[in-house]
Amino acid sequence: MSSQQQQVSNTNNNNNNNIITEPEDTNEYKFKHYWDSRFEKEEQYDWLGTYSQWKQYLTPILLSTNTTTTTIINNNTINNNTTDDNNNTINEKKKELKILIIGCGNSTLGQDMYMDGYTNIINMDYSSKVIEKMKLKYPNMEWIEMDMLDMKGFENETFDIVLDKGTMDALVVDAGDPWDPEQHVRYETLKMCKEIYRILKPSGRFLQITFSQPHFRKIFLNPQTEDNQNVLDWSIKHVYVEEIGFGYPLFNIQKPPFN
Ligand SMILES: C[S@@+](CC[C@H](N)C(=O)[O-])C[C@H]1O[C@@H](n2cnc3c(N)ncnc32)[C@H](O)[C@@H]1O
Repeated sequence: MSSQQQQVSNTNNNNNNNIITEPEDTNEYKFKHYWDSRFEKEEQYDWLGTYSQWKQYLTPILLSTNTTTTTIINNNTINNNTTDDNNNTINEKKKELKILIIGCGNSTLGQDMYMDGYTNIINMDYSSKVIEKMKLKYPNMEWIEMDMLDMKGFENETFDIVLDKGTMDALVVDAGDPWDPEQHVRYETLKMCKEIYRILKPSGRFLQITFSQPHFRKIFLNPQTEDNQNVLDWSIKHVYVEEIGFGYPLFNIQKPPFN
């Protein structure tokens, strides 16, 4: 992450009792030992804004995601039902959606979504330090230590939603030229995307909030073979949300079949 990104993250609404010094070398964000030592001192930090800021953009996407047992709800509107019926259906839908938050850190995202009715969430991070702490803090939720480049602990087609807020950003800090990123970073991001694709159910969605400009991020989200064929057949859309921080994209990526 750049120094501007660090500045942005420092202006977020965070509740941190200890002052965390950002690393001199931003490549540190790539390493587990950096996050472990940071999480020993830091209690809570939300990169790229909080759930309350993102809720209005996430809700229509989450509620329109097809689960195996409910009908599609578009933009929160269900015709021909009473308000009570609508609320019940929305609450059922929220409970049903199986969500994985990758690289959860000590953000309040998972707990805030849980309080908003999304009770079927797994929070995952490769830092054992943060997972231990978050388990004690929020025992009502599920916390798993895992590397997003190797999620063999999850079966194929397990999740309706995989949510990433600032996590791929930590993986690409040593990408070099954003127009022509380093091969090892292309390899790692492809591994991450293939794992996410594998664990998503058909029509499931990968939602990503990022510091990156969309055209640079698409190089990683839409990897191509040497003869310019897409490696993954998922669809990629984004909205640019200017109201949060200096403006961040929210990617909405869907595994086929599309709806
Ligand atoms: C920039 S922080 C974002 C934290 C949180 N998602 C938020 O919104 O505030 C990046 C997080 O990704 C985690 N992370 C980095 N690489 C990872 C990997 N390979 N597997 C799992 N988690 C990883 C770090 O431990 C850290 O918690």
